[in-house]
Amino acid sequence: MKYSVKSSNPLTHASGCLAVTVYTDGSIGDVAKSVDQATGGVITAAVKRGDIKGKVGESLMIPLIDGIRAHRLLLLGAGDKADECSLVNIKKIGAKLANTLEKSGAADAAVSIEGLNIANRSLADSVTILIEAMEYAAYRFDQLKQKKSSASLKAVTLLCDSRSQANIAQTGVNRGEAIAGGVRLARDLGNLPGNICTPSYLASEARKMQKSHSLKVTVLDEGRMEKLGMGSLLSVSRGSREPAKLIIMEYQGAAKSKAPIVLVGKGLTFDAGGISLKPAPAMDEMKYDMCGGASVLGTLKAVAELGLKINVVGIVPASENLPDGAANKPGDIVTSMAGKTIEILNTDAEGRLILCDALTYARRFKPAAIIDIATLTGACVIALGAHPSGLFSQDDALAEEILEAGNQSGDRAWRMPLWDDYQKQLDSPFADIANIGGKGGGAVIAACFLARFTEDLTWAHLDIAGTAWTQGKNKSATGRPVALLTRFILSRCQ
Ligand code: BES
Ligand code: MN
Ligand code: ZN
Repeated sequence: MKYSVKSSNPLTHASGCLAVTVYTDGSIGDVAKSVDQATGGVITAAVKRGDIKGKVGESLMIPLIDGIRAHRLLLLGAGDKADECSLVNIKKIGAKLANTLEKSGAADAAVSIEGLNIANRSLADSVTILIEAMEYAAYRFDQLKQKKSSASLKAVTLLCDSRSQANIAQTGVNRGEAIAGGVRLARDLGNLPGNICTPSYLASEARKMQKSHSLKVTVLDEGRMEKLGMGSLLSVSRGSREPAKLIIMEYQGAAKSKAPIVLVGKGLTFDAGGISLKPAPAMDEMKYDMCGGASVLGTLKAVAELGLKINVVGIVPASENLPDGAANKPGDIVTSMAGKTIEILNTDAEGRLILCDALTYARRFKPAAIIDIATLTGACVIALGAHPSGLFSQDDALAEEILEAGNQSGDRAWRMPLWDDYQKQLDSPFADIANIGGKGGGAVIAACFLARFTEDLTWAHLDIAGTAWTQGKNKSATGRPVALLTRFILSRCQ
């Protein structure tokens, strides 16, 4: 969908549909009032009849309206006017708007921004969130179906009352479109099955962005990784016929001398568990085990599209984890790039094995901050469910910044402890460290493992096992946490 902003009269603006808001107390704003007057009172009549109560998530489509140039009038419930809109409500309204417009068959629509401002937030931010929500709802993954859904809605114009308001809204549109594009890329990569989205496929998608988004993309093959001593990462891919790749994407928007933000995303394109094989139910969902990596590609896409004045490096260790004669066996000991030896007690705790070498590799970029993103533990899903991503960091300032970016974007995280008290659970009688740490606190233990490789770095870890995809009938990758990460990077640009 294409979005634009105009400061024009809603009554005379020609479009397939004009959308305006109504509130729960039966009141309407100035724009809706002028539409009401021009149409002989259709809005007040609908409200009076009780056809729409103004609750968030409600909508009423009124076809063929006389008095305005739009072919349809869409009323959207915007909740209680007195409270102003919350971020959550804007997301609901955006989703409803996109779904209703899609069903209406309109080719284009004009949306009055009246009533769509989030309380205590700039208009630009409100517009960004609205567009993200609309694009999220409009997303279809049908590239592997014979019959593709053909979206009729092509263009949405946001109507503002002044030129200056339109300018601010335009910033919101630019950000919204860029973030939505990054989210869409992350969702597409996540939803693709393991037989298509292999480590090589991820690498080729990253390479494509080299041209389209002027990023520097480097892909290390297994030979190069061997030379670097990435024994931990390579031990995971030994059990797979798909060669591992280490994807490095560099975006330079500031002086070369400026330390970059480094994002490291787990790119496990299918996790069967290896010799510590996973049970069969829902194993298909382990195609989503590369969603951390996908979020890194998505965030870099958004950052590059916005041309942000900052340096960002994305690193994606990509591999499969399968059972095989050459696969890791419980008890095997491997040597990581950092030199630390690791006793692999469970081959299903493979994410940390590929991430530790990628984190060590990341040191060469001398990061201002480093964030890894990984579908790392089932334990994180038990702890937090599907709403926040788990955030782990020993750096309070960085943790606060990330939490704030989550709150601002609505793509939230929740901080978990990362205390040294847990560290001894990773002691091994045979190696420097074990890859699992017994019962209890599984998400923390996994983070503690990574912390052993990030000492003296400004580092945070996001466990997105519960947030990267949704289950059930509408199973799909969510594209999280692209919105959080982009917001984090945006806030570092100011
Ligand atoms: N990719 C999984 C984590 C996961 C499981 C994410 C289920 C989302 C849903 C990871 O590689 C894994 O298997 N972790 C193990 C660790 C355990 C062996 C210590 C887990 O969580 O069971
Ligand atoms: Mn696993
Ligand atoms: Zn995994």
